[in-house]
Amino acid sequence: MTGEETVADEAEQADEARAGPRIITVFNQKGGVGKTTTSVNVAVCLAAFGRRVALIDLDSQSNATANVGVTPPVASGAYHLITGRAPFAECLRPTPFAGLRLVGGSDELAWADIELALGGQPEAGLTRALQTAPDDLDVIVIDCPPAPGVVSVNALVAADAVVMPVMPSPHARDGLHKAWWNVNRVRSNFNQQLSVIHILLTLTEEGDLTQRLSEDIMAEFGNRVMPVLVPRDNVVIEAAGRDLPVAVMASGSAPARAYVRVAESAAGPVGARRRRQHRGP
Ligand SMILES: Nc1ncnc2c1ncn2[C@@H]1O[C@H](COP(=O)(O)OP(=O)(O)OP(=O)(O)O)[C@@H](O)[C@H]1O
Ligand SMILES: [Mg+2]
Repeated sequence: MTGEETVADEAEQADEARAGPRIITVFNQKGGVGKTTTSVNVAVCLAAFGRRVALIDLDSQSNATANVGVTPPVASGAYHLITGRAPFAECLRPTPFAGLRLVGGSDELAWADIELALGGQPEAGLTRALQTAPDDLDVIVIDCPPAPGVVSVNALVAADAVVMPVMPSPHARDGLHKAWWNVNRVRSNFNQQLSVIHILLTLTEEGDLTQRLSEDIMAEFGNRVMPVLVPRDNVVIEAAGRDLPVAVMASGSAPARAYVRVAESAAGPVGARRRRQHRGP
């Protein structure tokens, strides 16, 4: 991974010179691994640190939208943004949390894959839309659906950094290899500026099996694995049931403290990042 890291370092330095918010995409094609929980809590923690944050919910399940206290479906949101139906500012709405705004989800997102695929440059809709992001945003956090489809590819094409939640389970490494391969395929075809890919171990449990599986992933992926585990804890489900991020409802809990650390390392340096044109393959 040394060559890859050099490319990543150069891309990171090039990023510093560009204007625009830092875009953090939370992706794993596997379902139920903590993508939405990670997106919502990273977004709310970054807002609590004083960053001006937009959370984009690209999943037709709209769980991230509900989790920040907005009732889905939204009239003008991520579907309208990614398909070019509405400008960014029109899709942004406030949330109950200071510094955090939302581009919400809706059922129509289930159709975005096919609509984008039928148009020109299907991978670039979100990148184009983000070029009109308001200047008063520092960070955009994108929650992906559990599929490696066109919508997820759009989110990876637009990303400066990817956070890939992985639940250490018996088949986790197979799923991780597939997700890793997909991200790197997008990077080499469409987004050579994608500089950082973090693997985040989520829903971890005490015990030998989790320990061994986590160690195997760390041995293979080295410092690409974030040095923080998000433990499985029912307080996360309780918070989701109240449409609250766990970092807000139970800030002293172990998952909340873990997400503070995840947000710190995913945030990158304070300040402007980039606004780039889409470059095709
Ligand atoms: N650390 C945790 N401890 C306990 N439960 C958790 C934790 N993280 C997430 N969960 C719960 O696990 C379920 C799946 O989490 P989440 O919705 O974040 O995953 P996802 O990858 O976004 O799922 P999907 O692929 O369906 O979009 C949810 O019910 C969530 O509340
Ligand atoms: Mg989700």
